[in-house]
Formats: sequence, structure tokens, C-alpha cells
Amino acid sequence: MTVLYEGKAKTVSTTEDPFILEIEYKDEVTAGNGAKHDFMTGKGRLNNLISSEIFMRLEEKGIPSHFIGRVSETRQRVKKVSIIPLEVVVRNIAAGSIVKRLGFEKETEFVPPLVEFYLKEDALNDPILTEDHIKLLDIASQDEIDTLKNNARRVNSTLIDVMGQMNLKLVDFKLEFGRDERGNILLADEISPDTCRLWDKDTNENFDKDVYREDTGSLIDTYERFYNKLEETK
Ligand code: C5P
Repeated sequence: MTVLYEGKAKTVSTTEDPFILEIEYKDEVTAGNGAKHDFMTGKGRLNNLISSEIFMRLEEKGIPSHFIGRVSETRQRVKKVSIIPLEVVVRNIAAGSIVKRLGFEKETEFVPPLVEFYLKEDALNDPILTEDHIKLLDIASQDEIDTLKNNARRVNSTLIDVMGQMNLKLVDFKLEFGRDERGNILLADEISPDTCRLWDKDTNENFDKDVYREDTGSLIDTYERFYNKLEETK
């Protein structure tokens, strides 16, 4: 296997099949575009278990993704896609950057949910993009943008259901998509408490990476509790 890409939290390698890649989830956590960085034993396992389970739940609802299957505690196999350099963020409730940037009061509900696009480019600090920017930068066509938005909304509906069964509110989350060799758009990357904001329905306690970003608790304990709740909804 050859390592194709080593990121902050994952390593992507080739396999014997040119259309299949293997992702290893690492015991590393970063925040603020790398400003905060730590090693945490067990984090890779938890993210791999959680993300695999969520991709399977989405598949049951007919949402196409790159996920093929989990092959070990820290590894999963995925269909090879060419990643579209966009972060698609869906927001149900105001928190995080939209509070700081646009002055929304935290906890404001967005009905219908807000879908936003950001450019995946660390050097530019992942700036927010309009649909016209996306077309001007030749990142995606209008048809593809519409597909990304529709798929993001479908993921949102399914995740709201799953998290609801866990007594959690889905505040917001980030998705990435890729194109397979025939140009089909597939959901890619990961879905986990690293990429979602999740609040307890009764207490608003965080079940996500904000405990690490804001130093309010143990990330491993939080993700372990999240995973146990997810398993209970099977
Ligand atoms: O930072 P912001 O409030 O815009 O994040 C919105 C959502 O997208 C959060 O759930 C956050 O965890 C996720 N996100 C992410 N990766 C990024 C930026 C945001 O997973 N690079």
C-alpha cells in the first residue's frame, strides 16, 4: 500500500484495487486550522467506529457515499473519489463561526436549515463562497451545486432523526463530497463529533469537538459516550 495523503486526522492509502482506498483514522486532534494539536490514544478508533456507523445509517436511507466497509478498529475501505475542494456546512441552530461573523444570537433556529459553502484551502483560511464564486473558480457546475445542496439536506434529515433518538440536537455539521471515475457525486470524508455540533436536548451539553476547542471536558470520554448512545439506537 502506498500512502497517497497524510492529513491532520487521517492517512489515505492505495489498495490492490485501483478503485478502492483505505483510510486510517489517527490518534490526533487539531483545532483552529492547526493552532491546537494533541495526540489522544483511542481517538482514531472512536472516529472510525462512529463515522462507519453513520455512513451505514445514511446508506439505509439511500444516500450514496464513498463508504464500503470497516476493516479494523481504525481503518475503513472507501471508493476512490476525487474530492471537490468545498466544505458544505449545514446549520439548524446558530453556533460557532456564524455567531462571530454575522452576529446571530447563539441558539437562533434556522428554518429552513442554512446550507453554506467554504473553500477547502488552509492557506486562505477556508473562506466562505457564493454559488457564483464556485462557478467562477470552476469548482462545480450549477447542476452539481444543486446536487450538493440536495444531498446535504437529505443527510441533515437523516442525522436529525438519528441524533434525536440519542436525545441530541443536531446544531450544524460539515460534509465533503467527491466525484467517482464516472463523475457521480458521492458523500466522502467522515461524519463524527469532529465534524458536527451536537447538544444534549435537555441541558445543551456538548457531545462534540467543542469540548476540545473550548477546553471544557475530555474529548475521549465525550466521544465514547456519544458512541455508546449511537450503539443503543441500533
Ligand atoms: O466553525 P463553524 O461554526 O463554521 O463550523 C460549522 C460546523 O462545521 C461545525 O460542526 C464544525 O465542527 C464543522 N467544521 C468542520 N471542519 C471545518 C470547519 C467546520 O468539520 N474545517
